[in-house]
Amino acid sequence: MTGEGQSLLARLLMPGVAGHEMDDVGQPVSIATEEAALVSAAGEKRRRDFTLGRWCAHAALAQLGGDDGVIGLSKSGAPLWPDGFCGSITHTAGYAAAMVARCADFLGLGVDAERVGGVTQKLWPRLFDADETALLAALSPDLQMRVATILFSAKEACFKAWSPLGAAPQSFRDIHVALRDDGFDAISAAGLLTGRFAVRDDLVLTAASIPAR
Ligand SMILES: CC(C)(COP(=O)(O)OP(=O)(O)OC[C@H]1O[C@@H](n2cnc3c(N)ncnc32)[C@H](O)[C@@H]1OP(=O)(O)O)[C@@H](O)C(=O)NCCC(=O)NCCS
Repeated sequence: MTGEGQSLLARLLMPGVAGHEMDDVGQPVSIATEEAALVSAAGEKRRRDFTLGRWCAHAALAQLGGDDGVIGLSKSGAPLWPDGFCGSITHTAGYAAAMVARCADFLGLGVDAERVGGVTQKLWPRLFDADETALLAALSPDLQMRVATILFSAKEACFKAWSPLGAAPQSFRDIHVALRDDGFDAISAAGLLTGRFAVRDDLVLTAASIPAR
């Protein structure tokens, strides 16, 4: 599961889905005044993350010819997309990405980036069900960290796809993720979601999508 090539996001895209990603090397990025105002009271890191995420989202919308509006912020924290579009935004240390699609093609999208290392064994009981825990327990410590990060990131991506539809479960333990070679199936009371993942060094990126038909 070590990634080759530069673009993680390209490995997760599918027909009808546009995406944009950025490695954050301190380059200048800017967003509309109305969007910047949404986080004007936040600290520097939050404003940088928000700006990188929205920058990526606008670049992705532009690929679909839909970059002519402000991406708002709902009470839940989910982005408010221009009419006719859905999508998802993620940021983690040194990296940001966004995916968008037309609502005619997808009801929901979720994308999530995580650095390997944060999902320690102490967190497993809150995040993983018995089958996932058994899978992790059978792995070597190094692989354990990577797979735990992929499982968790997959659950975050599913949460982001389901949440705007009011379908997200109450607990991460209520989403069961089964990994395949470069993808996953996630099952919860909301139904079955399929997704993909990609890994580059310590960076994990996952995406889940809900097709409209
Ligand atoms: C919201 C959450 C998914 C964000 O994930 P994260 O790994 O912390 O951070 P990321 O950078 O990957 O994602 C942040 C982005 O998620 C998006 N987001 C936030 N809340 C969201 C929601 N309810 N639905 C969809 N997307 C959401 C936003 O675009 C945000 O970026 P922005 O504020 O710059 O626009 C995470 O904080 C979380 O897990 N919250 C709790 C969810 C929960 O209770 N789940 C229970 C069972 S599923």
